Amino acid sequence: MNPDAVNLADDAPREPFAVRSLLSADDLTAGDATRILDAAESFFEVSRRPIRKVPALRGKTLLNVFFEASTRTRTSFELAGKRLSMDVVNLSASSSSTTKGETLLDTIKSLEAMQPDLVVIRHAAAGAAAYVAARSTPAVINAGDGTHEHPTQALLDAFTIRRHKRDLRGLKVAICGDILHSRVARSNAILLGKLGADVHFAGPRTLIPSAPESLGAKVHYRIEPALEDADVVMMLRIQRERLSGVFLPTLREYSRTFGLNERRLALAKPGAIVMHPGPMNRGVEIAPEVADGPQSVILDQVEAGVAVRMAVLWLLCGG
Ligand code: CP
Repeated sequence: MNPDAVNLADDAPREPFAVRSLLSADDLTAGDATRILDAAESFFEVSRRPIRKVPALRGKTLLNVFFEASTRTRTSFELAGKRLSMDVVNLSASSSSTTKGETLLDTIKSLEAMQPDLVVIRHAAAGAAAYVAARSTPAVINAGDGTHEHPTQALLDAFTIRRHKRDLRGLKVAICGDILHSRVARSNAILLGKLGADVHFAGPRTLIPSAPESLGAKVHYRIEPALEDADVVMMLRIQRERLSGVFLPTLREYSRTFGLNERRLALAKPGAIVMHPGPMNRGVEIAPEVADGPQSVILDQVEAGVAVRMAVLWLLCGG
């Protein structure tokens, strides 16, 4: 096999990918999402080769603009671009001229003048990625905008579930914890619902958004009914930076009533997988023995992130 080749072509001519920018899981039909997940299977194989690089996007430029901290998303977008032979430039808030008072729009307009093909943006404000996409020429990927959405996280979660359970249709997925502040919960409820999963939210009343049913999820105010017979258990980080005493009495109390430990995990199906988007608060929302246990696929999620982001970059660049 040609080591530069990536096996993405079938015999039938493909429609161009209809999505221009990826701002929300709602931008994708089930067919679009499946096309990304199928392409990601090929890129996953590339990422396990001794030489993890293909020339698919040589000559294209990716700008990674992160105004909020990130380990997984930023690194995996950078690796994804590099494994596709893109020129990749990273900019973080602390090293940008926003520290001198430059506005987001002026920053983006300056970067746009350097002719990137794609801009990946993470920002603390909900709607920031859509704001940039509406005012700039290159395609934009939302890498997390405040408490709003994180669509590529939902795609990599769907990819991980599919690899372990083959088909998402009919699976019970319990998403537990701080739903109110979680862009991951929002994007996952939309995307996994479109792919046929039965999504359940569980969290304290103070950490469930108003009208959660608009996201297609069933809601529980105790964790146990969500865990019962679940195929997938996704724990969410308690976002200490966005919490105060009004949401939770204490973290200890939260851990006692909503933390995932081995006893609670036994309520799920025997082969259930445990997920967490990271970063984890060990001993708060998830016990270390569960996070590191045989049902945990948390590091599989991280590995999937590179392949799924390669697929997204490739398809948005014309695939
Ligand atoms: N899951 C996720 O978005 O992690 P990072 O904040 O480390 O990118």
